[in-house]
Amino acid sequence: MTTIDELRTIHDFTCDIARKSGEYLRNDQIRRRSVALGTREKLNAVDLVTDADTTVEKLIHDAVAQRFPEHDFIGEESYSAGEEKRFLLKDSPTWIVDPIDGTVNMVHMFPMTAISIGFCINSIPTVGVVFAPFLGGQGTLYSAIYHPEGGAWMSEFGSDGPRTPLPLVSPPPPLPTDAPKGCLFFGEWGKDRRDSPQSNLTKKSTNFINMATELGGRGGKGGMVHGLRSLGSSTMDMVYIASGQGDIMFEAGCWEWDVCAGIAILLQTGGIVVDSNPPDGLAPDAPIPMANIGGRRYLAIRGCSTNEQGQSPRVQQERLVREVWRRTERLNYERPI
Ligand code: IPD
Repeated sequence: MTTIDELRTIHDFTCDIARKSGEYLRNDQIRRRSVALGTREKLNAVDLVTDADTTVEKLIHDAVAQRFPEHDFIGEESYSAGEEKRFLLKDSPTWIVDPIDGTVNMVHMFPMTAISIGFCINSIPTVGVVFAPFLGGQGTLYSAIYHPEGGAWMSEFGSDGPRTPLPLVSPPPPLPTDAPKGCLFFGEWGKDRRDSPQSNLTKKSTNFINMATELGGRGGKGGMVHGLRSLGSSTMDMVYIASGQGDIMFEAGCWEWDVCAGIAILLQTGGIVVDSNPPDGLAPDAPIPMANIGGRRYLAIRGCSTNEQGQSPRVQQERLVREVWRRTERLNYERPI
């Protein structure tokens, strides 16, 4: 049993290490004006790793190992470089880290780049810290402790402002009555670029067109969302949904390190995350289970308040999940075994 005081200690330690990693990345961007960025391809030409990814992961790993030697650690770069491809999360206290989420963005100096550090207990993301070093004056920090006495916050460095509680509007408004109509929808194109009628890329493009099309269009699948956004960072997508700056995140193909920290923040702000494919055999009125963190398919809905019809947040969120499932094709991202 981890106490709230222990979680606060872990949270503060994580914020500190995320900021130090962010300083390294900011300096790295300055250095690259004179030195070429060491960039290599992993699975294909859009799956990139830079020297900064490996350096930052080592920095975070070493700090965690020194302070919490009994904890387990899963990091994107060490996992990608290793042979073991099973989902490694157990119920023991475990850190799940993406040193740079949005590596392609960083290579192009697009600011949706984040250091993403999650900490799980009993396989539940419990502390989440996301530092976006190129957003705001000297970076923006999002963090949460998922606990009844916890909280979720945003701090902009380089301004003297206090840390802001999340979601940004509190209490968050109900979901739009006709949602997904009126929602802001975040979806990622991802790295699977294979070309066939049944490929994930083809299905994702169909899904996005369905969500954008007027109601009644595309055989009843039109969703008339207010807009579609694709940021190139699943971490930042999740954080914006948690902050209430978007309503729906639909992403498949990413990994536990891309979402773990963001899920802790989302849960603390009242959001939910489920499988982006409807689970087999789920009855139309059965409660929808939380996504498997290692399942590579995520559909997140922001927190909301009871609406004028008296529907609880959970009822509105589950209704919207089913409306999204109805309009989207199942994606095929199995975990390598
Ligand atoms: C990627 C980003 C992207 C998502 C990919 C991820 P990375 O993470 O989160 O939005 O579509 O699936 O792999 O490689 O930049 O850490």
